[in-house]
Amino acid sequence: MSRYQFLESDIYIPGTDIPKNRLGVTEADLLHEIEASLLQQAYQIFIAELQPATRFDEAYFKSLHQRTWASLYDWAGEYRSVDMSKGGSLFCRAEFLEKESQRLFRQMEQEDYLKQAADWPKEKFAERMAHYQCELIALHPFYELNGRITRLFFDLIAMYNGYGPVDYSQTLGEAADETNAYIQASIVCVRAADNSMLRQIILDGLNKAETP
Ligand SMILES: Nc1ncnc2c1ncn2[C@@H]1O[C@H](COP(=O)(O)OP(=O)(O)OP(=O)(O)O)[C@@H](O)[C@H]1O
Ligand SMILES: [Mg+2]
Repeated sequence: MSRYQFLESDIYIPGTDIPKNRLGVTEADLLHEIEASLLQQAYQIFIAELQPATRFDEAYFKSLHQRTWASLYDWAGEYRSVDMSKGGSLFCRAEFLEKESQRLFRQMEQEDYLKQAADWPKEKFAERMAHYQCELIALHPFYELNGRITRLFFDLIAMYNGYGPVDYSQTLGEAADETNAYIQASIVCVRAADNSMLRQIILDGLNKAETP
């Protein structure tokens, strides 16, 4: 199983991989339940807030993390200040995080944050989403909860363009370990900057929203 390796970090309850939290929860299962419920609420809130003028910029991305997890974690919405790796994959060095993130979102701005994708072929949309998602996976900017917020971010972009949220159910199981296709895709993103596996996962999971 992959556990994070930190140079230094005190976000965890000593001797555990349970993050210190505002509710004082020390039991992993309960914390996961609370996180799942907060994420579910976040989906409802952010979907309801989508507007034509919504900009999927860095401030928006950070605000998703901040607003989803602020009731639980002090570091919600804040980029990490320590280097992190997972399962042997080293994510972006903390000292380059701000600069790399800004570079990535500037590039996204040049593509109007993928806001024009409703008219694109699905393959092109999946390719551009995979490109940016792969970069955010390699960035891994927050201490924790990167995967869920990154997928939320791209689900909102998909919904903005008339699609439903991306269906990852075939590729990301409960365990979220190296046996999952999504984690395999993440590994090649981080280690080889290769987004081809992720592109296929997104293409397979992307469906036009059902009309009521
Ligand atoms: N061995 C690995 N190599 C590269 N990237 C990985 C590896 N394991 C996980 N990842 C990436 O890190 C993400 C998990 O990061 P984090 O634990 O901060 O987020 P999470 O929301 O708690 O997790 P999850 O995505 O499993 O729900 C995964 O979604 C995946 O993209
Ligand atoms: Mg995690």
